Amino acid sequence: MDKGGESVDIRSASKHYDAVRALDNVSLNVAPREFVSLLGPSGSGKTTLLGILGGFIPPSSGSIHFGDRDVTLLPPHKRDIGVVFQNYALFPHMSVGENVAFPLRARQLPKADWPDKVRAALAMVGLAGYESRGISQLSGGQRQRVALARAMIFEPRLILMDEPLSALDKQLREAMQIELRELHKRIGATIIYVTHDQREALTMSDRVAILKDGKLVQIDKPQRLHDHPADSFVASFIGEASLLPVRRADACSVVLGPAILRSTRPVPDGDELMLAVHSEKLLIDDGAGDAARNRLTGKVTDVVYQGESLRVFLQLADGTSLSLRQPSHYEAARRIPPLGGELTVTLHPEDTIVVPKARP
Ligand SMILES: Nc1ncnc2c1ncn2[C@@H]1O[C@H](COP(=O)(O)OP(=O)(O)O)[C@@H](O)[C@H]1O
Ligand SMILES: [Mg+2]
Repeated sequence: MDKGGESVDIRSASKHYDAVRALDNVSLNVAPREFVSLLGPSGSGKTTLLGILGGFIPPSSGSIHFGDRDVTLLPPHKRDIGVVFQNYALFPHMSVGENVAFPLRARQLPKADWPDKVRAALAMVGLAGYESRGISQLSGGQRQRVALARAMIFEPRLILMDEPLSALDKQLREAMQIELRELHKRIGATIIYVTHDQREALTMSDRVAILKDGKLVQIDKPQRLHDHPADSFVASFIGEASLLPVRRADACSVVLGPAILRSTRPVPDGDELMLAVHSEKLLIDDGAGDAARNRLTGKVTDVVYQGESLRVFLQLADGTSLSLRQPSHYEAARRIPPLGGELTVTLHPEDTIVVPKARP
């Protein structure tokens, strides 16, 4: 089923609705077979960009290229793309097989070829033998698989997905994320995937594009985004980071209240800097750790039990707050003082991330 992936080139795409800039001068290249997620809060322009790629929304300016084809003015059915939406958009009165075959009918492919193609597409999504079932007899997860099979049936080299898993409960969603990852490797298509869930984006994507107010803020591999956020918006959106205002001391250190924190990364210039502290990077100081680690002391204001881990909230002397995570096993948990007690935590200079403060 592997026909290879399409390359996608978005050149200065904008979409304005009167005064609203739904998408603002976004340029982005996606390589063949790449899995790229568009991640951002509600209203950041994700669906608008996907709609422009699919041909459902005409851009106000800019152009879209698939391989060496300029598709900017092509209608959706001439773009050779598979599309999956959040609400499945299945036809309730048709059987599973008829739903999956629908793109073949629309393209007027010879009817004799349909059953084999439907069988192969359903097998791909783990629904072999479901051809004659009714849509109403299926669970939410199965419906989403039917929608996937339908998007893949004509073996498109580009598949667009808009929050396809958001209607599913957490467990099923996480299982489907892994399935989609594997499916992507098997079919070799390029996938552009919209989500507002950062863990979902990190789990599945080769690269993640962060959108805010219609603008592309940063595009990078998951670990790069996590460890090298472009600004405090990205840092707040990826992972679980506390953001604390700091002052630049020199090229490799910042001032936070009474403490000077060293970083192995160059501290950016600028008046408004934030320290992004990922909660898993803070360790409780047991005095035995590396002396080069930065130290912060605060009062414990809350401890939240979350199953596999505890989230501990600390308030520093200057009133700012941060949180750290501890495994919930006995040895770790017993090192957390009671509420109001003092706790010193350490942060490695390698994990000391200083970013420019994003505009609100
Ligand atoms: N048809 C439309 N008319 C007017 N404004 C729109 C329309 N579609 C989207 N918008 C606005 O454009 C912005 C981006 O929307 P959208 O792309 O749907 O965001 P997302 O998918 O990231 O939630 C929002 O402010 C939204 O209200
Ligand atoms: Mg949307």
